[in-house]
Amino acid sequence: MPQRKIGFIGAGMMAGAIAQGVVKKGLYQGEEIAMYDPNKDKLSSLKQELGIVPLDCAEEVFAQCQLVVIAVKPQHFNTVNYKESVNKPTIVSIMAGVTIAVIEEKFPNLGIVRVMPNNPAQVGEAMSAYCHNELVQPEQLAKVEEVLKAIGEVAVVSENQMDAVCGLSGSAPAFMYAVLEGLADGGVLMGLPRDVAYKLAAQTMKGAAEMVLKTHKHPGELKDMVTSPGGTTIKGMYALEKMGLRAAMMSAVEEAALQSKKLGELK
Ligand SMILES: NC(=O)c1ccc[n+]([C@@H]2O[C@H](COP(=O)([O-])OP(=O)(O)OC[C@H]3O[C@@H](n4cnc5c(N)ncnc54)[C@H](OP(=O)(O)O)[C@@H]3O)[C@@H](O)[C@H]2O)c1
Repeated sequence: MPQRKIGFIGAGMMAGAIAQGVVKKGLYQGEEIAMYDPNKDKLSSLKQELGIVPLDCAEEVFAQCQLVVIAVKPQHFNTVNYKESVNKPTIVSIMAGVTIAVIEEKFPNLGIVRVMPNNPAQVGEAMSAYCHNELVQPEQLAKVEEVLKAIGEVAVVSENQMDAVCGLSGSAPAFMYAVLEGLADGGVLMGLPRDVAYKLAAQTMKGAAEMVLKTHKHPGELKDMVTSPGGTTIKGMYALEKMGLRAAMMSAVEEAALQSKKLGELK
């Protein structure tokens, strides 16, 4: 059996984004990546785009790869076929809300890494947080980190923090798209063309995030630096505070995290 570096069960949006990230970053070549998905069209388009190797069933992926990423929707996890073989892959689950205990039921005695990536993985700007069981060897964990770094940034958390991760980095891309749309609508309201308004809003959001990440300054300090007495920005801040900006953000993360917990308990 050929040994491939990484395999994917499911060839959807996230599998495609991760495979693209590792190939683009030069971590693995297409022929070192195997994939299985019942949808042959998705496999052929990724084969054409990245040179990945489509396989005929999930069992072949588990038998041939050192790392196997489970990239199916949580509700399809029970349809993934696994048969023990001499190969003992490390399992990397990106399924939202599926606990390590549930994954271990299907893959007893294998190292399991549970990851929560997010939607900007598609442009190499994901925020992924992960936890793992005690069977994962340090060198395998280092490989998982390398793969996750090929699509963005990485944080290590404990499993009981995973619902909070889902509420924050897992869900907040949608919150940020809504904030961005609101800012752009404000620009249009005040006379900017729509395309210019989206560009200004998106680059401003990106620039502000980069300021926090690169200067390591507290966001409050950065805000204080741009709010001059009696000026325009403090007037806008006043409007936001009157509408409960921070409470709205905290509630959004709280609701999303509680929903993640609830969905996890239903499984
Ligand atoms: N999208 C995100 O931003 C995001 C963020 C964080 C985590 N996640 C997690 O990532 C996982 C994948 O999400 P996605 O957005 O990439 O989903 P997706 O685009 O729907 O991809 C899942 C793929 O798996 C296929 N599939 C279904 N059952 C299968 C099986 N038994 N064996 C092999 N393949 C099978 C699906 O085929 P059909 O379409 O024919 O069912 C589909 O092509 C989910 O568990 C999700 O919770 C996603």
